[in-house]
Amino acid sequence: MNDLNQLEKNRIIWASTRSVLESLKFKSKRGGKKSKSHWTLFEKLLGIFVFILKMTRYYKIGLGNAMYNDLTELTLEYKNLPKELEGYKIIQLSDLHLDTIAKTEVYIVDKIKNLKYDLCVITGDYRKNDNGRFVHVINPFKFLVQNIFAKDGIWAVLGNHDSYMMVDYENELHPLKFLVNEDVIIEKNGTKLCVVGTDDPFAYYTDKAVLALERAKGDFKIALVHTSELHDVASEKGYNLYLCGHTHAGQICLSGGIPLITHQKDGKKYFKGMWTDGEMVGYTSAGNGVSGVPQRFNTFGEIVLITLKNKI
Ligand SMILES: [Fe+2]
Repeated sequence: MNDLNQLEKNRIIWASTRSVLESLKFKSKRGGKKSKSHWTLFEKLLGIFVFILKMTRYYKIGLGNAMYNDLTELTLEYKNLPKELEGYKIIQLSDLHLDTIAKTEVYIVDKIKNLKYDLCVITGDYRKNDNGRFVHVINPFKFLVQNIFAKDGIWAVLGNHDSYMMVDYENELHPLKFLVNEDVIIEKNGTKLCVVGTDDPFAYYTDKAVLALERAKGDFKIALVHTSELHDVASEKGYNLYLCGHTHAGQICLSGGIPLITHQKDGKKYFKGMWTDGEMVGYTSAGNGVSGVPQRFNTFGEIVLITLKNKI
């Protein structure tokens, strides 16, 4: 251990902890343990739903919806934005679930190929299932990241569908870097842009996620978390921007985008799109892919392109 630096030591401790959490039959939440048992029922219901749907024309429509992504362009205005960050562009991808629909990565690359951005962030969920093998998503993921051209890097966090072992593929996925309860400082002429990424708080929460948010310092702070569940911590600690996903905007919704299931208990406000908590702006992406079933109704995935501006 003496030859390892602190980052490597922290990663070993984190991986040991998450490997245990992934093997348990309950979710580790900020408020304590929560049973996973309703997932089994949910998956059975989904299976029945798809079986019925396949007999109708709606399956093809739902598949087409699931394969489509909107481009959501947001201009966020901040009082006293450091001048080095005026016009700074961030692209957010989320919930890729690369093995649910073949060639998802090709579609996304085609959709972003003409966009200009400085930083890319990816807020978790790379495979369809939340357990089992994952190495089959490495090649499509590699294709995707090799076609993202962000001069300030590609920074990613894990979601509840990911294995802790994915982080071992960081070199394969170059230039992507994972942030597991870690932060990075991007220097812009003396201005410190701080990007913090936590482990997933939906199923694998530990206090280290909160500690990571609490200790990071910078002139403009961005939190990357798979879900909105840590928004209060980030807001209290003066974060400027909080980016998350997880909900897929409901994925299967009634007319008007009303979700049947949201997979979050944080409150309606945080379920999709832009929200605020105090001075902090947050965005819950609808994701790029889908999980469970290759279907979307009354909602689409989205590529989020954010431009930072000074509020005059
Ligand atoms: Fe997801």
